[in-house]
Amino acid sequence: MVRYSESLIDEIKASNDIVDIISQYVILKRSGRNFLGLCPFHKEKSPSFSVSPDKQIFHCFGCGIGGDAITFICKIENVNYKEAIEILAEKAGIPLPTLDSGRSTKIEILKQKVYEINDIVANFYHQNLYTQTAKKAQEYVKKRKLDNKTLKKFMIGYANGGNEVYRLLKEKGFSDEEILASNLVKKTTFGYNDVYRERLMFPIQDVKNRYIAFGGRTLEPDGKPKYINSPEGMVYTKGRNLYAMNIAKSANMKNIIIVEGYMDAVSLHQRGIPNAVASLGTALTEAQARLLRKYSEKVVISYDSDAAGQAATMRGLEILTNVGCDVRILQMEGAKDPDEYVIKYGNGRFNLLVDKAISLIEFKTKILKNTLDLSNVSDKIKFLKETAQLLTTVNSKIEQELYIDKIASEYNISKEALYAEINKISNKRVTTKILEKRPTTVIKKENVEKKLIEREKAIIALLIQEKEKIYEQIKNEISVNDFKSEINKKILKKLYEEYEKGNSNINSILNFFVEDEEVMSRLTEVMSEEYQIKNDDKTIKNVINTYKIEKLDSRKMELIEKQQMPGLSKEEEKNIIEEINKIIIAKKLIK
Ligand code: CTP
Ligand code: MN
Repeated sequence: MVRYSESLIDEIKASNDIVDIISQYVILKRSGRNFLGLCPFHKEKSPSFSVSPDKQIFHCFGCGIGGDAITFICKIENVNYKEAIEILAEKAGIPLPTLDSGRSTKIEILKQKVYEINDIVANFYHQNLYTQTAKKAQEYVKKRKLDNKTLKKFMIGYANGGNEVYRLLKEKGFSDEEILASNLVKKTTFGYNDVYRERLMFPIQDVKNRYIAFGGRTLEPDGKPKYINSPEGMVYTKGRNLYAMNIAKSANMKNIIIVEGYMDAVSLHQRGIPNAVASLGTALTEAQARLLRKYSEKVVISYDSDAAGQAATMRGLEILTNVGCDVRILQMEGAKDPDEYVIKYGNGRFNLLVDKAISLIEFKTKILKNTLDLSNVSDKIKFLKETAQLLTTVNSKIEQELYIDKIASEYNISKEALYAEINKISNKRVTTKILEKRPTTVIKKENVEKKLIEREKAIIALLIQEKEKIYEQIKNEISVNDFKSEINKKILKKLYEEYEKGNSNINSILNFFVEDEEVMSRLTEVMSEEYQIKNDDKTIKNVINTYKIEKLDSRKMELIEKQQMPGLSKEEEKNIIEEINKIIIAKKLIK
């Protein structure tokens, strides 16, 4: 990745206060030394998103996401690291150098060339659709009922093949390297060949209206493959864009409708539904979900009605809910996909379906019902129980009541019965909670491990907080491989390395982990208020000693487990007992 210098990044970070930056997206309220707000990356009703002006980091205790101002911009604006830096530099009025380390300029230039090529070729394909040689394609778009305005708006085109694109680009003076980088032409043993032949072309634009990729549909009814799509390349990363988002974003939308196919999106737009976008062949990604969330909180999933479409709906639901979208599922009957539906029944009826789109709870209830026979008593009981279970996951009482009314009338079951089931479940929960609280003599292995990992986090927090004071001491007592958690290990390793070099600037250490979300999240977590540790010698010693004891406990657990395995030899058994004894002695020596 092309990168700006470390010192420039630090300067940009220093000139952008994280509270100012985040305030432009989230309402923040002061709470002690920090600011709190509702997390923009997951759905929540009470604030667990914390921003620290002292440390210039954010961390969400709900979903674990965290980082600095740059990572925040990456996530919320759905841009890469470099672009986020550019946004922040602009906000702070810091001029950026052109990345001129030879190689990077070359990449930048090549990228610009690819955008240029894509633009030329999109236009070429589109014009080509109106020529003599495109008879078959013209018939095809007519059959699919696409009008000229739509064809133009989406720059839908036709690729003849016959290496026209290669010749055109050569004529325009592009080099072979540039042409190959566009992925529109490939090199074979016979020379340079166009990738798309006799296909209807859908150019894909990003939200800045740049042409970044192409999808080419076969014109044959059963032609295989149905679509050929651009592979990832200089200007295209799969899963970061949505088809038609560049057009939808300027529509006045109360929600966004996400569909599966290019054809569905195009067809809806043509029929006066400009808020439709398509997910481009792959399963919906988190980056796409965030992009959707950026333009509208309300999202309606309208995938194909076949089994694959329904499975994709389930996955999409989860991803979209996680990033904080209010998701509804459109229920379609009488057509296999949105394209077929609007053609058959018109946009008025499609809009009605949008208005009637159901929530996650109703969707799950419906799926449940389809697996059961409600005229059968035992099935009906099962339905009642599981629906009640689902309803207990609804946070607000009002919402719960609304669902109860709706479900009761729709499936003809009594409201009272539903309430009774829900209460049963809630009561049970309370009792199990009480039971869990009772002290148990059996220490669970997972608990020991959990505690150990927590202690590791405390040690990292200490190291960050009190570097000068304790670095030597901790380094002598704990090596990277002593740590149990892989994430903690990565952090400890980097801290040791950087401290050794004399770099103790934690913000610059954060920069090393921009591509490792888990580590970033762990670091911002331990940097947060909750991990503030008193810095007197006694506390420090305490943390280290407790860690050592817990480490020994964890090993002891492992040994005890091993001891219970069948088929141990006398020798092995003896070794285990010896080690356990050693642990007992070692524990006594720690104080
Ligand atoms: N897709 C793909 N490769 C395939 C099939 C599908 O990349 N072999 C992607 C395309 O982005 C396509 C989407 O998955 O738009 C949905 O597939 P499908 O419903 O089959 O395509 P439609 O665009 O709806 O095309 P049509 O209506 O002509 O069947
Ligand atoms: Mn389709």
